[in-house]
Amino acid sequence: MTGHDRGTSWWSDAVVYQLYVRSWHDSDGDGYGDLPGVVDKLDYLSWLGVDAIWLSPTMPSPDHDWGYDVSDYVSVHPELGSLEDMDRLVAEAGRRQMRILLDLVPNHTSDQHPWFVEARSSRGATHRNWYVWAEPSPDKAPPNNWLDASGESAWTLDAETGQYYLHNFLPSQPDLNWWDPPVHDAFEEILRFWFDRGIAGFRIDVAHGLYKDAALRDNPPMPEGQLIGGTGGQEQRFSANRPETHAVFRNWRRIAEQYEPPRLLLGETCVPDAEKLARYYGQDDELQLGFNFPFMVSAYTALELSNVVRETLGRLPVGAIPVWTMSNHDKSRFTTRWCSNDDVRAALALTILLTLPGTIVIYYGDEIGMTDVDVPLELQRDNMFLGGRGGHPSRDRARTPMQWEPSVTGGFTTAGTTPWLPLGDVSSHNVADQREDPRSLLSLCRQLVSVRRRHIKGCGGSYEQLAAAEHQWVYRSGDVVVAANFAGEPAEVPGLAGPVLFSSLKARLPEKPFGEPLRLAGFEAVVVQLWP
Ligand code: NOJ
Repeated sequence: MTGHDRGTSWWSDAVVYQLYVRSWHDSDGDGYGDLPGVVDKLDYLSWLGVDAIWLSPTMPSPDHDWGYDVSDYVSVHPELGSLEDMDRLVAEAGRRQMRILLDLVPNHTSDQHPWFVEARSSRGATHRNWYVWAEPSPDKAPPNNWLDASGESAWTLDAETGQYYLHNFLPSQPDLNWWDPPVHDAFEEILRFWFDRGIAGFRIDVAHGLYKDAALRDNPPMPEGQLIGGTGGQEQRFSANRPETHAVFRNWRRIAEQYEPPRLLLGETCVPDAEKLARYYGQDDELQLGFNFPFMVSAYTALELSNVVRETLGRLPVGAIPVWTMSNHDKSRFTTRWCSNDDVRAALALTILLTLPGTIVIYYGDEIGMTDVDVPLELQRDNMFLGGRGGHPSRDRARTPMQWEPSVTGGFTTAGTTPWLPLGDVSSHNVADQREDPRSLLSLCRQLVSVRRRHIKGCGGSYEQLAAAEHQWVYRSGDVVVAANFAGEPAEVPGLAGPVLFSSLKARLPEKPFGEPLRLAGFEAVVVQLWP
């Protein structure tokens, strides 16, 4: 793929860091991370070379889904801090040339949001139509076959008013009704409220989900082999992914562009392929960025990953910027899922991630190789998938506290406080030790950020896949070539000349004389400077 003249916005080649606030740094000793804790650690992110920080939900919430059930869209959760703390964070990040993105949840609210409390008070309530209500079917069963995230009916009967309401997630997360114009007005105001406060943009939760089929048609079974875009064995053809949603984003894009610099809309576009993803970019008039789930759920092989990249770049509209990420707060960490907790393989994956064109998102702790943590049932905090409910493992495994140092609290909280989720292996993987070690994953990651700045940033997102043997992925990105060996055995890469700027291995194989093929060790990736 060549020829995509990708934009020059600040996010074009940016490194975005996803920070799960409750697990980042606890400044007040209550066991939960908080906004002052984010301020405390800004120097670390600045040292790493991060351009923007996406904060997991920060708005008030009863926390049935840890902030993804919002009860007030224009405030800060008191356990995390105050609006003043948020303003200070934006200012302090800005002083370090970093921007703050918030998580916006427009698909549903908490059932404790005043809108829903009022809506369920009577059939004639002012906010009744802000949510999706339907009559029971003749046998009193739910109105259709839609299932929620944990595989149960997506409808709950409201006994008082005798109608069912829709929830694509927990019953305490009622879906908003985007067919109702006042819902649009409310969110426009919310957008402006945060943009006016200096928030650089939003990660938009369930961006593909806002509108539901007006006729509430039944969902079909999930097509065989499809991993994304369904729930409980159903494809969410009618309970999400509706075409009307695009008009919402066109409107939000106009609002985002009324600001200087334009605010960023980064969608959680959970769709199964690049063609569907491309639709959310519109004609450069919808989301500026959309998460690429096929990349994250790909098998960890040169063939599959490179196919996703090629397919994505081929399908996105000219000028659109791709987004790459390997882990997030919903999935198993890439270190465990892809790399069997092996640092050598993790280093290879980080090398790929940080040399791809476009925006990349690092999930907190990925840079030090944090792995999934086996959280025992009695300590689990993820209600949606408690104890593996609905056949989905608890998401707590990838939400454990940041591992700052090799101490009892991991440097996350104060001595004597029990963190909200148990710590992973702080002695083997922590920031303090890895900062001292020039060969650690963290040092490697920081070096890669600087390679990215010097050789990939500003190159218009150019990417070209080069011929390679099986299990190898070789590509030109910016003005470097990346060669990655996904096999455990050494391999030669013919036809590649030029100095090796970077290797994912702590020690490279001895160099062969000039003119001979580059040799890669097992699971090694290198960045080679192209001769001018
Ligand atoms: C997607 C979020 O990433 C996830 O954590 C949350 O549970 C659902 N949306 C519902 O908001």
